Amino acid sequence: MRWRLCLRGDASLTLLLGAALGLLLYAQRDGAGSTTSAPRAPERAAPEPTSRLRLFKAPHAGATLQAYEEDTPETPTPTGPFDFGRYLRAKDQRRFPLLINQPHKCRCDGAPGGGPDLLIAVKSVAADFERRQAVRQTWGAEGRVQGALVRRVFLLGVPRGSGSDGADAEGARTQTHWRALLRAESRAYRDILLWAFDDTFFNLTLKEIHFLSWASAYCAEVHFVFKGDADVFVHVGNLLEFLAPRDPAQDLLAGDVIVQARPIRVRASKYFIPEAVYGLPAYPAYAGGGGFVLSGATLHRLARACAQVELFPIDDVFLGMCLQRLRLTPEPHPAFRTFGIPQPSAAPHLRTFDPCFYRELVVVHGLSAADIWLMWHMLHGPHGPACAHPRPAAAGPFQWGP
Ligand SMILES: *[C@@H]1O[C@H](CO)[C@@H](O)[C@H](O)[C@H]1NC(C)=O
Repeated sequence: MRWRLCLRGDASLTLLLGAALGLLLYAQRDGAGSTTSAPRAPERAAPEPTSRLRLFKAPHAGATLQAYEEDTPETPTPTGPFDFGRYLRAKDQRRFPLLINQPHKCRCDGAPGGGPDLLIAVKSVAADFERRQAVRQTWGAEGRVQGALVRRVFLLGVPRGSGSDGADAEGARTQTHWRALLRAESRAYRDILLWAFDDTFFNLTLKEIHFLSWASAYCAEVHFVFKGDADVFVHVGNLLEFLAPRDPAQDLLAGDVIVQARPIRVRASKYFIPEAVYGLPAYPAYAGGGGFVLSGATLHRLARACAQVELFPIDDVFLGMCLQRLRLTPEPHPAFRTFGIPQPSAAPHLRTFDPCFYRELVVVHGLSAADIWLMWHMLHGPHGPACAHPRPAAAGPFQWGP
């Protein structure tokens, strides 16, 4: 109950933080590039749609929904060509200090079985306060969900242009502002993890390894971990139902699995990888970084394995490389839609932003903060959505624990 009271008490602080961030954002408009994961470009998932699962995928880029495309903010992309030489030279430096920690996040006194049932970890960037708020108030809410104890953290790096390289007075001032704001946000919500590396698209791999080692150390008893982007919608109830029969002591990593993806050799692509960096014709199987779930056992094994794998600039492919090292195959799950829900070309009139559709999914990628909020309330309203067909999967809510 305590967490609820905290949230309410912090409402005015939220307003204040929001306003301050808005001002900073305005001042910084042309500066730092935002870096949350891009939609998993289907160009990367080069293989033809073969399985039944793939049939749902968009055959080409831009898998977000037409119906509400307009209010989806532009996906952040890295600026300029990627400097592989620099990346290769710098990639031995892979340990950065933790600037804001939540050491007590997974301490749940009195809870049977040690840690929380589910830790939700969301990749975010400092400027994305609005999305963090949407996630906090919807699918990322902490507390008990269907009896399961849920905890949440956001994963952040230092916004670019305000980092240690900001030698001028202006840069130093902006840096102080971001730090102060994130500290205030952390005090209010206790869910911010901030590391001392630049928060760029190609540093998402650093975010991955730092998070894995953090969770392995500070959340050692957790049963399952969901890791995803801030622009996904997660049906936590369905996720918990999927996890209920699973044993956290066994290996599990499930999501939108991409197999036999060929590295992009087109220089102009955001995902361009020269042969000198990755020579093999296909990547190992990996789960789309928009959202996937893993067991506590796999968390610990991955944290150790990833520490030994050479850094690779695409974070979810990198995780696939760690899995391969462990000889672990990610498990494909048809309800993880990390490419969004494409409009079927045969039925363009079909409304895909439909709660009856979402209530059967686990993860959908490519939603704005407003969409997330709206979908959450359509699904969790007092009566729920009026759908033509009853939900086929679950009969009655599953209860965790005794
Ligand atoms: C990653 O972060 C480090 C440390 O802040 C920075 O030196 C480096 O340029 C960043 N790398 C990329 C590819 O953005």
